[in-house]
Amino acid sequence: MRKKIVAGNWKMNNTLDEGLKLASEVVNMVKDERKGDVIVVLGTPFIHLSQVSKLVNSTKDVYVSAQDCSQHESGAYTGEVSVSMIQSTGAEFVILGHSERREYHGETSEQLAEKLDKVLSAGLTPIFCCGEPLDVREAGNQESFVCSQLTESLFHLTKEQMAQVVIAYEPIWAIGTGKTATSGQAQEMHKAIRKHLATKFGDAIATETSILYGGSCKPSNANELFTQPDIDGGLIGGASLNARDFMGIINAY
Ligand code: 13P
Repeated sequence: MRKKIVAGNWKMNNTLDEGLKLASEVVNMVKDERKGDVIVVLGTPFIHLSQVSKLVNSTKDVYVSAQDCSQHESGAYTGEVSVSMIQSTGAEFVILGHSERREYHGETSEQLAEKLDKVLSAGLTPIFCCGEPLDVREAGNQESFVCSQLTESLFHLTKEQMAQVVIAYEPIWAIGTGKTATSGQAQEMHKAIRKHLATKFGDAIATETSILYGGSCKPSNANELFTQPDIDGGLIGGASLNARDFMGIINAY
């Protein structure tokens, strides 16, 4: 059975103290209120990773994720953070290829392929983001756009490696806009993503891959999205900054 995952992406929000407060609120709520068997992940800025990991590792109810990593091992890359550094904090997931990194930092599919290799060889779990901009959606080319992103960054992996990857489909026009994809639009894309993965990795791997939806997901729309057959949870931006809202999404199954 593929895993259900609700992951928060705090993006560039929260000072250290604010982040620790939010993380402990989430941990306490998950401990007391979680209904289902959903894996909860907090995607924090690098500065929080170590302390949030200590906080959650005592419970093992919640996991911690970085929001990016370097494709390099170590060395003269000012401002970058390597996978081994992330691993040393206790974080177990790494978000890769978020559209904000592709757009504002010029991340390419080739760089993302290298980052994936680094994350996988360290035994961490990548959450690989894909998704189309509005003009591509309006032209009706979203499936071929997203499938190309997958081909370019994932199709060099072995089946064993692919089995460790989590995908997040985040249509760019739905991120932070309040404009969620309808459950029908999201389901259609998730199904297409799974079908595309099957062409390379086979049905068994494709069926087992968790594919999360991201883009203006809230407590009020999460259930309708998560109950679609190919949607296995969410990657949550704005609503993950409030523990009560985030918990509402975690319990939306
Ligand atoms: P919002 O939930 O704020 O739309 O952000 C989604 C996202 O980008 C998560 O990575």
